[in-house]
Amino acid sequence: MSVTRAVAIGCGHYLPSRVVENEEFTATLDTSDEWIRARTGIERRHFAADDERTSDLGIAAAKSALANSGIDGSEIDAIILATATPDNTFPSTATQVQHAIGAGGFAFDVQAVCAGFMYALATANSLILTGQAKCVLVIGAETFSRILDWTDRGTCVLFGDGAGAVILRAEGCAGEATDRGVLGVKLRSDGAHRDLLYVDGGPSTTGNAGKLRMLGKEVFKHAVTKLVDIADEVIEDVGVTGDDIDWLVPHQANLRIIKSSAQKASIPMSKVIVTVQDHGNTSAASIPLALASAVSTGQIKRGDLLLTEGIGGGLAWGSALIRW
Ligand code: ACO
Repeated sequence: MSVTRAVAIGCGHYLPSRVVENEEFTATLDTSDEWIRARTGIERRHFAADDERTSDLGIAAAKSALANSGIDGSEIDAIILATATPDNTFPSTATQVQHAIGAGGFAFDVQAVCAGFMYALATANSLILTGQAKCVLVIGAETFSRILDWTDRGTCVLFGDGAGAVILRAEGCAGEATDRGVLGVKLRSDGAHRDLLYVDGGPSTTGNAGKLRMLGKEVFKHAVTKLVDIADEVIEDVGVTGDDIDWLVPHQANLRIIKSSAQKASIPMSKVIVTVQDHGNTSAASIPLALASAVSTGQIKRGDLLLTEGIGGGLAWGSALIRW
């Protein structure tokens, strides 16, 4: 018997051309390359140009994913774009991507900050499994540099801009864990932790976009335990073991979080995709950026079993198992 599964047919990414090394921050802040590297693993990040919008980054990543998939924009019938830094309060940034690539169907944004890609992936998977869409473009795109407080050394050195995209298409298979596609996905959120990570503005409060505020140490503690727990749930649900996983593709916030969660899940660092050193934390873009980078370098190959996981403001978190 054949079942429908959401199968990744390609992916792509885009990074703005401006690269900012840690050293640049020392001109205006009491910080150092050594501190940033040691506490976060970050060495550099990309920042969008003044006239570059989140939609521009998303469109570039979408075009790269279309080329990688060998399909035309008109074959896409749904676009889900995860972002916490949309071009405007409305319309959705996804509709701008839809127009630019000539897609039909429908397009909308989802907002779960650094877990945004997990939320978008879960939604795309559901749309495909319920027959509402056949070919879904899932994008994570952020211009976090727009919401950083450049006087706060505890946050502004951590983030970067970028976009990543994955195209999922409905395909039939026998429904085994060895068959390609999204095997399982889990989402969680807990609004009780709102004050650990938020932006101090918005349309219904201050009327402006606001700046990012974070209690980093507190977020760190939640991140490791919540990521390990939710990844365990997906692994158990799907019925595979940690040894079956070829690659962990985690949210790229901090190398220490990545190492701790990999260690707790008994996944060796040789099986972990790490791009945080070059990208910083790009929020919703971080997982698809890491994924597409690793596919382009040939690390991730068709048929590999990928475990992805992300956590961010809300708190919101999620994890998925994908047979690539
Ligand atoms: N340079 C130098 N010193 C600094 C810097 C800096 N850039 N930033 C902070 N410090 C100082 C602090 O002021 C503090 O000094 P004090 O002891 O004199 O008060 C000291 O370094 C230690 O600060 P901590 O905040 O305790 O440092 P910690 O080791 O926890 O690292 C960090 C901070 C990197 C933010 C870490 O806590 C972290 O990564 N947290 C998780 C972030 C995360 O995962 N966010 C989730 C996703 S983000 C999203 O959803 C938008």
